[in-house]
Amino acid sequence: MSEFHRKIERNTIRFVLAIIFVASIGGIVEIAPLFTIKNTVEAAPDMRVYTPLELAGRNIYMREGCYACHSQMIRTLRDEVERYGPYSLAVESQYDHPMLWGSKRTGPDIARLGEKYSDAWHVAHLYNPRDVVPESVMPAYRWLLRNELKIDDLPGHLRAMRDVGVPYTDAMIENAAKDAFGQATPESDAAAGVTERYGAATHMRAFDGNAGRLTEMDALVAYLQILGKLTDAAQKTEQTKIGE
Ligand code: HEC
Repeated sequence: MSEFHRKIERNTIRFVLAIIFVASIGGIVEIAPLFTIKNTVEAAPDMRVYTPLELAGRNIYMREGCYACHSQMIRTLRDEVERYGPYSLAVESQYDHPMLWGSKRTGPDIARLGEKYSDAWHVAHLYNPRDVVPESVMPAYRWLLRNELKIDDLPGHLRAMRDVGVPYTDAMIENAAKDAFGQATPESDAAAGVTERYGAATHMRAFDGNAGRLTEMDALVAYLQILGKLTDAAQKTEQTKIGE
């Protein structure tokens, strides 16, 4: 054994420091280039935040444990991209707290589900999946159509999201309950404020098929219909790659 080895290996502190030094070279080589590549974290200036109704739907999605069977992250593998569309970008879940990427798929990935089916399809499917997909093993969620949506706690939910970095404005927080009602009741006075605060492209309709009542189904379907639609950054990234 050389003198150098003897010195390092017989002194614990020196040995630990040597390990840290050697391991950190590997770390820097892996991590440093990411800081210089422009598209490591993509920009999505057009991306909007979830409306209060969609956020309420997301909370129901978590409450019902949908994430146990559905992922929301399309991997960069060819079979995934061919089945589901452009692979998911980090920026697309920048307002997701907590994120719902998931790693278990009993059902399909739903990162780009928005606008794939009609609202009526979702209502029928959630009420009893076997009615539209006979071989489905997905549970039925009948109570969503029965349960009135609780909206008075929505300002608190938006405020909590703002605390972790989602850019909700004071007006969005103040009007959260009214906006949730307005989005599902487009003929009401409350509707105008929703498009003003969240943009003209926001889906405005009675998602559960009944404009008279705001149900948990309204919220969940509003959320499902916006999945993958908050920004078109992924489609743009794909086009640039093809153009290269
Ligand atoms: C036990 C696992 C399981 C759970 C829990 C579950 N699903 Fe599913 N889901 C499935 C399976 C399997 C399919 C494929 C068959 C079908 O379409 O019903 C599916 C299909 C779907 C589809 C159609 C996707 C597509 O692209 O065709 C949607 C939308 C969906 N589920 C939403 C939900 C929502 C919302 C919840 C929670 C309220 C939920 N699922 C809970 C297993 C599950």
